[in-house]
Amino acid sequence: MAERKTEIEFDTHSYVIYMRDKYDAYRNWLKQENLPAYNGEFIQDVREIELGDWPRRKARGAYLEFRDQQVSEAYVLEIPPGGSTEPQRQMFEEIVVIAEGQGATTLWWDDNSPKHTFEWTRGSLFAIPLNCNYEHFNTSGTEPARFMALTDAPVTWELFRDQEFVFNSNFQFRDRFDPDISDFYSKPGKYLTEYYGGILDTAFIADLREVKLVPRSKRGAGTMNMYIHLAGSTMFAHISEFPVGTYKKAHRHGPGAHIYTLDSTGYTLMWKDGEEPQRFDWSEGSVISPSAGYWHQHYNTGTKPAKFVALHASIAFGGGSEKNVEQIDFRYEDAFLRDMYVEECRKNGVEVKMEKIDKSHHD
Ligand SMILES: [Fe+2]
Repeated sequence: MAERKTEIEFDTHSYVIYMRDKYDAYRNWLKQENLPAYNGEFIQDVREIELGDWPRRKARGAYLEFRDQQVSEAYVLEIPPGGSTEPQRQMFEEIVVIAEGQGATTLWWDDNSPKHTFEWTRGSLFAIPLNCNYEHFNTSGTEPARFMALTDAPVTWELFRDQEFVFNSNFQFRDRFDPDISDFYSKPGKYLTEYYGGILDTAFIADLREVKLVPRSKRGAGTMNMYIHLAGSTMFAHISEFPVGTYKKAHRHGPGAHIYTLDSTGYTLMWKDGEEPQRFDWSEGSVISPSAGYWHQHYNTGTKPAKFVALHASIAFGGGSEKNVEQIDFRYEDAFLRDMYVEECRKNGVEVKMEKIDKSHHD
């Protein structure tokens, strides 16, 4: 059969470009926010990056404008000691992971419904229920509190293009947050472990490091996992842990995922089909966001199990659904990947334990 070549059918029409410029609501919004922006796909430590004044929220912050993500965007926010953020409601979803400090968040629908408050610290995770009023407090008088959050704001802005709608609508999504359930934020979550990789259905996680995990051995023997569904959000998260001296299979999927490292040190290789891998070295506080369709592979070179939480775009976009995730079994990987790993572990005095995994062939 003749070799098949593909071609681009047409250039973008000038009218489409004109309309895009005129109505690029999300980019215009970012300009208005006037905050530092971090590009690419990786930052070393969200606890260390420079932030700018964010008067709209009475805080400091930065956007992580990682390339090609489109369906989600992360930001970092810091509340000064003893401070609190300006109350806000928003017609987009948000998941928050606390990087450092301690504080509390209050949520409410309106003046006639009960307010709910929960306390958080490093490693806490929660969602802001869609369009619910909320306010964050730093309960320390001496230390700042800082978090990273992932939102689907780019989608909302592109669909509705109206600031008044995004921040000043009064519809209440009571199926996501019922204020009459007095222990909505304090009751224990429900583990659904009959599903592959497990699901934890909850409103608030006090400490991600304490969440019960179940095997996800098809990504590599010893890999542990838990998917997290939060307060009726269509965005979700998952926790992954893999042992000392091991790495996981390379995989790829759709856009939107942002991975926040909780424990250990290591590196992630990321590449487009046919290109050389790029390497990103991580430790606690690192964030990496694989571009849609890029292979990525996580390697633990530290002395404790590697643990991260991945925040995901809405399930509506299907980026992580079973039809859109592919992986490469260890037996088909390029030999230099294993050599690089062995060398990195040797430098750290870590014993490589991949042989047991090679023999398990879970695919
Ligand atoms: Fe991934």
